Amino acid sequence: MKSVLFVCLGNICRSPIAEGVARHLIEQGRHGITVDSAGTGSWHVGEAPCRHSITVAHNNRIDISALRARQVTKNDFKNFDLIVALDQSNYNDLKAMGAKNLVKLGEFGFGGADVPDPYFFDGFEGFEQVFSMIESCVKQLLNERG
Ligand code: 4NP
Repeated sequence: MKSVLFVCLGNICRSPIAEGVARHLIEQGRHGITVDSAGTGSWHVGEAPCRHSITVAHNNRIDISALRARQVTKNDFKNFDLIVALDQSNYNDLKAMGAKNLVKLGEFGFGGADVPDPYFFDGFEGFEQVFSMIESCVKQLLNERG
């Protein structure tokens, strides 16, 4: 695998964390892999990651504050070796758009479970659980496919 794209709904909560974690691991020794993230929706295009995602990443020494949301396009399916959906709804939307090189992040150690959408969570605590699940899955993904 030379390139990987993480895709959630808004590209402001979950997939920027996945991108940040993957970048961090790649910088620590896995060279030559391109990483990006996108959302299936367009509501937040151009926005920075949500405040709690920036904080939870920062607490883990990862800076995602400069990332900006974008919407996934069909060209991404050609440009990235692997498209990684954060939950089943993202997976279904990407499949319907024609993605073939598609997996769910939760397949890497969590039995295919969805990464919960923290957008409507009340407060910060849920973000720590989301970060921990994403970090564990991204590590396994890079170990298996990187
Ligand atoms: P994300 O979270 O998919 O993890 O970025 C969401 C962000 C925005 C919305 C939903 C989920 N929204 O409905 O605008």
